[in-house]
Order: sequence, then structure tokens, then C-alpha cells
Amino acid sequence: MLEHDVIIIGGGLAGCRAAVEISRTDPSLNVAVVAKTHPIRSHSVAAQGGIAASLKNVDSTDSWEAHAFDTVKGSDYLADQDAVEILTREAPDVVIDLEHMGVLFSRLTDGRIAQRAFGGHSHNRTCYAADKTGHAILHELVNNLNRYGVHIYQEWYVMRLILEEGQAKGVVMYHILDGQIEVLRAKAVMFATGGYGRVYNTTSNDYASTGDGLAMTALAGLPLEDMEFVQFHPTGLYPVGVLISEAVRGEGAYLINSEGERFMEKYAPSRMELAPRDITSRATAYEIRAGRGIHPDGSAGGPFVYLDLRHMGKEKIMSRIPFCWEEAHRLVGVDAVIQPMPVRPTIHYCMGGIPVNTDGQVRSSGEGLIDSFFAAGETACVSVHGANRLGSNSLLECVVYGRKTGASIAQFVQKIKQPLIDEQRYVTEAKQQIQALLEQPGQYRINEVRQAFQDCMTQYCGVFRTEELMREGLRQLQSLQQQYSQIYLDDKGDCWNTEIVEALELQSLMVVGNLILASALNRQESRGAHFREDYPQRDDDKFLRHTMAYYSPRSGIDIQYRPVNISMFKPQERKY
Ligand code: FUM
Repeated sequence: MLEHDVIIIGGGLAGCRAAVEISRTDPSLNVAVVAKTHPIRSHSVAAQGGIAASLKNVDSTDSWEAHAFDTVKGSDYLADQDAVEILTREAPDVVIDLEHMGVLFSRLTDGRIAQRAFGGHSHNRTCYAADKTGHAILHELVNNLNRYGVHIYQEWYVMRLILEEGQAKGVVMYHILDGQIEVLRAKAVMFATGGYGRVYNTTSNDYASTGDGLAMTALAGLPLEDMEFVQFHPTGLYPVGVLISEAVRGEGAYLINSEGERFMEKYAPSRMELAPRDITSRATAYEIRAGRGIHPDGSAGGPFVYLDLRHMGKEKIMSRIPFCWEEAHRLVGVDAVIQPMPVRPTIHYCMGGIPVNTDGQVRSSGEGLIDSFFAAGETACVSVHGANRLGSNSLLECVVYGRKTGASIAQFVQKIKQPLIDEQRYVTEAKQQIQALLEQPGQYRINEVRQAFQDCMTQYCGVFRTEELMREGLRQLQSLQQQYSQIYLDDKGDCWNTEIVEALELQSLMVVGNLILASALNRQESRGAHFREDYPQRDDDKFLRHTMAYYSPRSGIDIQYRPVNISMFKPQERKY
């Protein structure tokens, strides 16, 4: 059996930052990162617009308190305020630390780190590296993994969390290269496995964002928190759905409907295009639904609106947001210097996740904690984003809570011995699972079941939700889960069998989809990204609470709630 002191599943920003912190704190610890891609291909690399921190380089009136207030208001008051305080207080320090590691941030003319406007932030506080900020940070962190001697298992798919008697002991993993199965044990296991964008049919997320860590946690009998809060980014490039960064609006672009109006004036007059994402995405969806969207031939009534950059000028476009210009040019043939870009909301981020305390330790319920199990980043719910995340707070969360979780793991493992595991049992069960997939005489291809599932989630649990829609979504999901047991694989081999990985990922997607739908159905109010047309108001009396959803393949989903931490700002009506 393979073993390390600490194993971190996921090679993105949160996982890499935690690994660096553990190694910095105690260089004698043996740390490993397990990733289903090469770490540099983790989805964090695609983050564009920036990382928020009240450095005050552009606006001297900014403060961590203002950043905390914007974050809590943006969250529609569902964020835990103790966690937000840590996030925003530590932000300037983690950004400077990244700079010292070598991250190449864009600069002001006096040499200090530049900061731009972002949605829902009341000050210009988003630090950036043009529109490739995730790329700049992740490359430096991966360099640091090598520098600190962190072992990297790349292109291993983790199939199962080993959780026994309230303690995480390791994982079972599958080597995509040759089908080898290994048990990996450790004194502490951390999940930093990212989000689940592929639950939906239009997303800014990469193909690997399939919610595996979330599903493994749920299948181990642990709750997932606030899964109903699914973020739509307002500006996905039509029709492909890839991200056109909020930085484009931060640098001055307009959203325009078929009548040529800057329609955000009707929805958020004081913030216009820089309203938070839930409001801007909903406004865009309303415009399209009301027939003020645009068709590819320019006529009214179509499926997208325009993001207009033309007034910004070539020099600004090419220096501040060159990648967004390139995406539109390469993917849909639009030259944004002279033509508006076609955009519509696209699934972008998961506000909920594996519930953790502010040390990154996983919660077993409202009160209890799981031994030796930690999580951070998008897969975790600490909860700093509540019902709606502000742009540029996600890279920040990865770095602040990656660092903090790494520091607590480094302390935690000092007093722990390697756990005992029945290796043979886990290897045999994993081999049986793979064999069953290979031998299944099914009738459905993975691709057709996945497409039907993604269409179902998009239609029945999208921007606008009702009880009737979601009940139908759950009904269809049940029958798709029946079809899952009848999928067949063409590739029966061991070598680079991506069909096996796709089949395992589809199982994760369906578990996550179920949890999203059931959590959304139970929340009979509208808050942040969760908009119920049958319950259009926020209801603090009943629902100023976090959802804790427990998955059981046999008895369905059990929903409980836990309180929100309100230590700084009393909930108010949210207006922009
Ligand atoms: O629009 C963006 O660049 C995305 C940033 C974020 O999700 O934080």
C-alpha cells in the first residue's frame, strides 16, 4: 500500500497552496498531490479576471471591513461572517506572499500591483495578471510544489474516499495510463477537487469539472452544504459558453439588448454592468425571455445579448483583456475591437460544497467534525460566498483557505499515526466496480445519457426555478439513473481507457445533480443565485440557514439545516 503523511486530492490553486503551506510549516512531512490531470491543467488555470484584496493601491479608502461587507451583502447574507472576516483580513497578505513567490501581477505605472473594478465590490480591489490571473498563480504554485519536494500523482482518478468510524484514512485510485488500482493511506486527507460545471450543458468549466470530490463525500454518507446555490456567470460566449471575464465589464464594457439599451439600468441602476452576478445573469435571462435577445443575424428575439467593448479602444482591449479578445476571435470569429460579442449566462461556480470549519476540517453535521478529513477551494463550503459569490473572491478563497487548511493539517498530523486499512478489500471492490462497467451488456452510450442528464438539469434547475419544474427534473433524473446501469463501453482495455473515467465521472455528476435539485426544491424562498418564481421573496425567518443534504442511494436525500454565523452585519434588504 502506498502511504504519505498527507494526501491532497486535486492539483488546482487550493490544493497546491495547501501543499506549499504544509511543506513550509514542517519540511519533514511527506506530502502528495493526486490529480486526474497534470496540475497545471487544473481548472484554476482558466481563472481570468483576478483576485480581490484591499491593498489600497488604487483606492486608498478601501479596507478589509468594506471588502467583508461587500462579500456578505453579495452573498445575500447567507455567508458565515466569521469565515468572511478571515478571508478579507488575510487577503492583502496572501497576495503579497504570492508576489514574493514570483507571481507576475499587472502593475500600475509606479510599480505597485494594479487593481481593477469587479461586480459587487464597492472599491477597485481586484489584482490581476491581464486576463490570465489563474494561469499566472497556478504556474508559480506548481513550481513551488517541485521546489518543496511534494510528490505528484498525475492522471490518477480517485474513485473512493476511505472513511471508517468517523475517520478519513485514505483513498482508492485508478491510474488512467494503465488501469492500475492502488490504495493510498495517510494521516490526513484533503479534498481540493474543484466544482461541477459539467452538471449543466453550458458552462465555463473544463471537461474535468465533474464534482468527483463532492460525490465521493456524499457517497461516504457525509452531508453537502448549500448545493442549491449554482452560479451563472453573466457573460459566457455564445454559443460555446466559455468565460468572457467580468474584467471586460470591469474595464468598461456595456451589456446591450436588441433595442440597443444598456438594460442593467432597469435592474441595478447604481452598479449597472458591475452588479453582482446573480442579478446580472437574471437580468440578462429576463431580457432574452422577454424577446429582447438577439439572433446571430442581428434580429430581435434571439438567445444572446451583446457585450460591447468598441468604445474602449484597441489599446485598452489588447493590453488589459487580450485573452478575451482572442477567445471571441478564435471561437466565434468576432473582432471585439469593431464588433460586439454575443454572450449569455453560463454555469460558472458552485457556492456550496463539502461543509468545513475555518480550519478546513470537514463537518459531519451541524456540530460534529470528521477526523483527518479536510477540504478547501470550490469543492468546500466554509461558507464565504453564501448564496452568491462575488467575482475575484474565488481565487482569494483558494489561497486564503488553502494556506489556512495547510497550516492546520501540518499541526494536526503531528499527533496522528498511519491508520490501519484492509487494502485487499478496497482493491477488490474497486476492481469489481471497473469490471462490472466493462462487462455490462448495456444499451446506452455514456455520451447520450450524460447529454440527457445535462439537458435535464439545465431545463429544470436553471436561472428560474419552480416546484413543478424541479419535481419533473427529479423524476427525469431517476429514470436517467436507471439508464446509467445500462451504459456500455466500447473500450474494454486497460491502456488509457477514458471511457472508464467518463463512466465514473457520470456517476459523480448524477449524485451532485440529485443533491442540487433536492436542496433547491426544499428552499422555498429566493436568495442570491437561487431564484424561485413561486417564492420570489427572501424569507429570513424560515431560510436564513444553511442546507445540509445527506445522500443515500436507497432512501433518497435527507435535508437538514444549520445556523448562519452573523457576527458583523445584520441582514438588510439587498439593493444595488
Ligand atoms: O469573470 C471572471 O474573470 C471570473 C472571475 C471569478 O469567477 O472570480
